[in-house]
Amino acid sequence: MKILPVISTKGGEGKSTQAANLCGFLADAGLKTLLIDGDFGQPTASSIYQLTYEAPCGLYELLMQTVDLSDASKIISHSFIPNLDVIISNDPQAHLLTAMLHAPDGRLRMRMRNILQHPLFKQYDAIIIDSQGARSVMLELIVLAATDSTIGIVKPVLPDIREFLRGSIAMFEQLRSLSSYGIKLAISLANLRTGLKHRRVVRVIRRCKLLRLKIRLTMYRFVQIINEKRHYQGNN
Ligand SMILES: Nc1ncnc2c1ncn2[C@@H]1O[C@H](COP(=O)(O)OP(=O)(O)O)[C@@H](O)[C@H]1O
Ligand SMILES: [Mg+2]
Repeated sequence: MKILPVISTKGGEGKSTQAANLCGFLADAGLKTLLIDGDFGQPTASSIYQLTYEAPCGLYELLMQTVDLSDASKIISHSFIPNLDVIISNDPQAHLLTAMLHAPDGRLRMRMRNILQHPLFKQYDAIIIDSQGARSVMLELIVLAATDSTIGIVKPVLPDIREFLRGSIAMFEQLRSLSSYGIKLAISLANLRTGLKHRRVVRVIRRCKLLRLKIRLTMYRFVQIINEKRHYQGNN
């Protein structure tokens, strides 16, 4: 079972779209897939695929631990794609943000990771978690649930790349001490023809319709910044 968070600390980068697309591809390929909509504010990912069964509970009850996970029908919604289940986002008032911040086990941000150890989730080959485009306790909870690398989404334009470095990469750097608990905090650049030999891995999926020269140059510059560790200097 692989748990893959889809993140960027900026909104509008394409997280929900790519998370839903990835789930569709994996399910079509025959993998039993679960999409957890971790964007409590905007349940975009929950609403991309038509649901054939909507469970009475969702992200809110999952994280508040007020749902009995031994009864899957309480929490697992079914999409019209046979292999694709969904845990919907259902916290429009953003109560989760405060609740998770003040939870007794909140400081280490492990709650999502621990909950996903329940036998209910063992049936899935892949669990994709969409997230909100802002640095918060919720995003940290999601990133720390990863079993492999996290998928970072960034538009190949300079302001967004700068924001990615300032927000997402900086968050990974700050959480790095938690890797001593066995948590995989990996950053790598995928989809780029460069030899990145980093211990950190952020997978960057280019979301662009046309790969024009300008976009190539922007991505090249992005890779250079990471390779040369210039993002530490905060002046890119
Ligand atoms: N690869 C892409 N190419 C063009 N437009 C995209 C792409 N991915 C997403 N979009 C569009 O960008 C907007 C924001 O996408 P969304 O997935 O909601 O972003 P986020 O979840 O990061 O806020 C949407 O209108 C979506 O249709
Ligand atoms: Mg979204």
